[in-house]
Amino acid sequence: MTDPTNDKPINAAFLGGPPQDFDRAGREQLAALLDYGLVPTSTVCDFGCGCLRGGKWIIPLIDAGNYCGLEPMEHMVEKGIAEFLTPEMNALKHPRFDHNDRFDCSAFAPTRFTHFIARSIWSHASKRQIGQMLDSVVAHGTDDCVFLASWRPTRLLAGRDYWGDEWVGKSHESAEGGLIYHSLKWIRRACAERGLRAQRMRHRVVVNDQPWCLIRRR
Ligand SMILES: C[S@@+](CC[C@H](N)C(=O)[O-])C[C@H]1O[C@@H](n2cnc3c(N)ncnc32)[C@H](O)[C@@H]1O
Repeated sequence: MTDPTNDKPINAAFLGGPPQDFDRAGREQLAALLDYGLVPTSTVCDFGCGCLRGGKWIIPLIDAGNYCGLEPMEHMVEKGIAEFLTPEMNALKHPRFDHNDRFDCSAFAPTRFTHFIARSIWSHASKRQIGQMLDSVVAHGTDDCVFLASWRPTRLLAGRDYWGDEWVGKSHESAEGGLIYHSLKWIRRACAERGLRAQRMRHRVVVNDQPWCLIRRR
């Protein structure tokens, strides 16, 4: 999709969040993964990897071919490779990408993932889309896999549970920003239905009002 006002790809300047948080939100992704056992042989699926805000920190640390990003805005990935990875790092680590918008990791088969991450994705994704991510975790995760998803918990006065069916915010289909909330109660139920359990991570810093939710198999 092209922006009719300047003929550039939609959201060409988008960095995945507020520019002032770019480094902090990126580094926090690596730090949280390290807390949950990331090692060089880990296999990481980054749902909605954008322009590699997190990938630029994760890719150098893990073995070649083990970072897989799902991102429907192809130009975001191209920007990430051009601006946030050196050509040498890209050639050495060979990150893999797919551009489907169904959160479907089967494009990376037969890889089974030890780690899944979704940073600033559940703050825009509908419950149906979160369900798609959870289904992918069940289908393509190792037995002891972990899924770290940042999200905006519902709040009493401002922050109602989102029940719409569509993505809210910038994407391959929209140049409009937007943020949504999901209740931990619903998340736990959606996880339990799939043999997963979810808990709010308490020890990590909260960047941009988004704590982490930690999801594992039961
Ligand atoms: C707020 S940005 C966060 C990007 C990245 N995780 C980061 O930390 O910078 C949300 C990203 O999700 C992507 N996205 C939107 N719809 C998607 C879908 N259906 N499947 C996968 N990614 C999607 C957007 O294109 C955008 O790059």
